[in-house]
Amino acid sequence: MGVPLAVQPAKNERVLSGMRPTGALHLGHYHGVLKNWLELQHSYDCFFFVADWHALTTHYDETGNIAHDSIEMVIDWLAVGILPGSSHIFVQSHVPEHAELHLLLSMITPLSWLERVPSYKDQQEKLQGKDLATYGFLGYPLLQSADILIYKAGSVPVGEDQVAHVELTREVARRFNFLYGNEPDFAEKAEAAIGKMGKKNAKLYRQLRKRYTEQGDVEAIDVARALLEEQQNVSLGDKERLFGYLEGVGKIILPEPKALLTKQSKMVGLDGQKMSKSYNNTISLREDPDSVDKKIRTMPTDPARVRRNDPGDPGKCPVWALHQVYSDEEIKQKVHEGCTTAGIGCLDCKRYIIDAVQAELEPIRRRAQEYLQDISAVQTIIDEGCDDAREVARDTLDDVRRALGLIER
Ligand code: TRP
Ligand code: SF4
Repeated sequence: MGVPLAVQPAKNERVLSGMRPTGALHLGHYHGVLKNWLELQHSYDCFFFVADWHALTTHYDETGNIAHDSIEMVIDWLAVGILPGSSHIFVQSHVPEHAELHLLLSMITPLSWLERVPSYKDQQEKLQGKDLATYGFLGYPLLQSADILIYKAGSVPVGEDQVAHVELTREVARRFNFLYGNEPDFAEKAEAAIGKMGKKNAKLYRQLRKRYTEQGDVEAIDVARALLEEQQNVSLGDKERLFGYLEGVGKIILPEPKALLTKQSKMVGLDGQKMSKSYNNTISLREDPDSVDKKIRTMPTDPARVRRNDPGDPGKCPVWALHQVYSDEEIKQKVHEGCTTAGIGCLDCKRYIIDAVQAELEPIRRRAQEYLQDISAVQTIIDEGCDDAREVARDTLDDVRRALGLIER
């Protein structure tokens, strides 16, 4: 049916994600987020940044550690294997373009959109005792939208709790394109732009557009987008037109991103709750071996298993939850059987986890040490990532200013 898929959906698409600087990271960050980044960096043009302004929105009264925590966090990214050659690592506050886009987007964002983002009320309730009725905190998700849109990111890897923010970003982008992507002679300009692609590509574009608009074929639109990305002879403005023309809307200046949900976003902590600094149940990525050993050895187990020969119920034990992360089927079976028949003791059971965590952390700890001894190398990586980021961010802002009709500079 239709045109053969001469072009695959774009793989050079940009991926962006950020983390607030919380200092040294733990296994929850590793299994929930970083492992995902590690995979993405090989397939996409990845931008990973320290969201230090976002930290200010909630911690404006305790800013003393932000710089230190930011560097520590980047060291952990590097230590787990985020490669500065494959991804761009930078700090939000070093790319002031995010702030300019945030300001411009604030002009078109209804207050009600921000007030109904679930994290707004949730966090205010959670952080009682802190005044979060601030302008900056209300704008938190819009700043995040600016972070994403300034790179025209196609995908944003996030946990469940951030999906609403990506959704807001899509709405804001749509509104922006609707308000500023209209031109009186849009269709004529788009047709003229098609002509600039060369005969063969123009024909392909028209066929794909037809497949989408007349048959609702969504695959066709992905292929058409990839085709457009590749065009060397088409100006940026014309590309924006042709992206929009595909969908039957005006120019698309800010494309809508997709949330890439992290599969395993909840790593269990030492007490069976989600691993989180605020529950004091973490193992940090640079935890020393003795401490890893001790923390796991003293983990609570099935409370019914008091003596060695009491059988246990793995379903009631946080150690069992860790086996789901670390053990293969064979070990899991052995442990399950041993637990329910009192064939093994809890320490035997924990030994598997201790060994697995030690093996996982050993290279991370070692690489972190190397970077700690060469902070200037870390600084250089951040500076270079920042230069790359600014280059893209400046281009987007040029597009945005032009679309808004601000005086050119
Ligand atoms: N809000 C995110 C968090 O708390 C961090 C963040 C800021 C982010 N800007 C972003 C994540 C842009 C993805 C994309 O984890
Ligand atoms: Fe938990 Fe393992 Fe002890 Fe069973 S044997 S209670 S799964 S630690």
